[in-house]
Amino acid sequence: MDFEEGVTLTKYLIHGGRPLHGSIEISGAKNAAVAILPAALLVNGKCRIENIPQISDVTLILQILRELGAEVRTVNRTTMDIDCSSIQNAPVPYELARRIRASYYLVGALLGRFGWAQVPMPGGCNLGGRPIDQHVKGFLAMGAEVEVRNGLIDAKAPGGRVCGGQVYLDMVSVGATMNIMLAAVLADGMTIIENAAKEPHIVDLANFLNSMGANIMGAGTDVIKIRGVESLKGGSYSIIPDQIEAGTYMAAVAAAGGEVEIKNVIPKHLDCITAKLLEMGVEVEERDDSVVVRRDGPITRTNVKTMPYPGFPTDMQPQIAACLCLAQGTSVVTEGVWENRYRYVDEFRRMGARIQVDGKVAVIEGVEKLTGAPVHACDLRAGAAMIIAGLAAHGDTEIDGIYHIERGYENIVEKLSDVGADIQILFVPDDDAQPQVG
Ligand code: EPZ
Repeated sequence: MDFEEGVTLTKYLIHGGRPLHGSIEISGAKNAAVAILPAALLVNGKCRIENIPQISDVTLILQILRELGAEVRTVNRTTMDIDCSSIQNAPVPYELARRIRASYYLVGALLGRFGWAQVPMPGGCNLGGRPIDQHVKGFLAMGAEVEVRNGLIDAKAPGGRVCGGQVYLDMVSVGATMNIMLAAVLADGMTIIENAAKEPHIVDLANFLNSMGANIMGAGTDVIKIRGVESLKGGSYSIIPDQIEAGTYMAAVAAAGGEVEIKNVIPKHLDCITAKLLEMGVEVEERDDSVVVRRDGPITRTNVKTMPYPGFPTDMQPQIAACLCLAQGTSVVTEGVWENRYRYVDEFRRMGARIQVDGKVAVIEGVEKLTGAPVHACDLRAGAAMIIAGLAAHGDTEIDGIYHIERGYENIVEKLSDVGADIQILFVPDDDAQPQVG
């Protein structure tokens, strides 16, 4: 997508009601990439990283790495060479770091490499309170002194190197598990993380670090052991496909109907999503590295509860809710991870959905049709859900706040257009409020 001078990209316009047909290629996983790129800070040598998704969160992290002195060279559209051999430790730029959640991985990586890190408190989607106490608990267990003040996380290892430690996480946290792993790979001694998260991106980060010479055991189980090594050398690594991007397109086919092959996936990572779609009467056929999703009959009601992997992912909750708005009967969705992940519900209601929310539970009474409306993408996955609802709705849906969507979905408009969706980007000139189709 090109950005023309003097033009601000603002909205998506979807003319709904067209079933989807064809194939979609899935990009590298966002939540793996945003940890693996900071992990390159730990490596003394050149890392070639393949299958990097082209999304704005990745652009920001690469910009931060460059600011810290990393040499970043584009090999092709999805491959970068990153050399952090001669980086200097310095406070991470506030304006960049506060715009993304994953900037917290810079704390673990810089603390691990230099024994000191100063990083602004992270940003990211507003899903209710997003504390980092478990990250801090891990760093403290490794002998670091940690202070949060003036909007900064300041972590320091007396003696310049963290040491091995044992930490039991009070709740399963993806971010804390990865951050402690990052700090521990170069530590003096063994670190043990108990009650660790098991998401595919945890395993991917461990595989990346191990391929560079780290010694991490147990990633993918709830106990991870990291034996510190003296240094990491360079190498090549390819990021796993994005489980949530794939799940989002699966849900899009479920809602809009049609038949689409979702390519370049690891079907095992999609089991939790596939199982739910099958319950809803959607056909899903697994192949070696693709899944074919087909829906021509009605959607059956079901209940969904989100939980850490291998449970149903919270990052798929709004998208599956979009499908359930059109199911026969009443479904109950329970959010088991985040405090506030139903901010999108008012937007669905504008389209004719019938949803009641009480705390962590949403009761969705299926309707025969949704109708297009102007709606707002209030966060990344809510934005994806608005697209899904728009594809299934009768009439036109205009979505604003799409910068949220572009944080995590590569070329979403092109990918959906290629399978027959009528979706366009609306540009609004800076000095004119009237949108132009581009
Ligand atoms: C990661 O966030 C993802 N973000 C989120 O994806 C995802 O929703 C989440 O994991 C759960 O899968 C990235 O990977 C950048 P957590 P993270 O630590 O690591 C509580 C998306 O849409 N908690 O696993 O920040 C927390 O409040 C995004 O791609 C603490 O209390 O999530 C939450 O209730 C949105 N203290 C639960 O644990 C802590 O120190 C899980 O959070 C840490 C977490």
